[in-house]
Amino acid sequence: MQKNILLIGFMGVGKGALARELVRCDKSLYALDTDDMIESMTNTRIKKIFATAGETAFRALEQKTADWLAKNVTNAVISTGGGFYKVNNIKNIGTVVYLKADFSWILNRIMSAPNAKKKLKKRPLFQDIEKAKKLFEERYTAYEEVADIVIDVTGGDTGSVAEAILNRVSQQ
Ligand code: S3P
Repeated sequence: MQKNILLIGFMGVGKGALARELVRCDKSLYALDTDDMIESMTNTRIKKIFATAGETAFRALEQKTADWLAKNVTNAVISTGGGFYKVNNIKNIGTVVYLKADFSWILNRIMSAPNAKKKLKKRPLFQDIEKAKKLFEERYTAYEEVADIVIDVTGGDTGSVAEAILNRVSQQ
């Protein structure tokens, strides 16, 4: 039984794009995304969950998703929401890979995307850049503490970062 690869890191660092790239590199894997799972489970957009039920309710949905993943899923690359690293059973889901970048790199990645407006709009915790930066600073060391592997994503394209992840995971 193969464990999963769990991608954690700040909003906009490229967790989803890397999960898709990893699946292209290793055809035995499949990609899942915790935000997508929560949206399907509730039939509600993340933005709306925050606006109506609130952040605490969203975090409970993340925990519910984590419990389900730990019990039911193997062989997947799982991209997660930026706050998913706080679930209490993350180590039971798979190898935790932190995608590391500094805030200005992340902001530049979001802003230079052709659909930058949409990328920002769907993220309730990225509505105010100063607040997002503060959140980044609060979480910065926590991501590293929870990770089995830390990968700097600022040095290469998605393909080479994906290769580096697969190499490091195979050495675990
Ligand atoms: C969040 C990140 C979002 C999403 C939600 C909360 C966070 O996911 O889960 O808006 O707390 O950092 P992305 O990291 O994919 O933007």
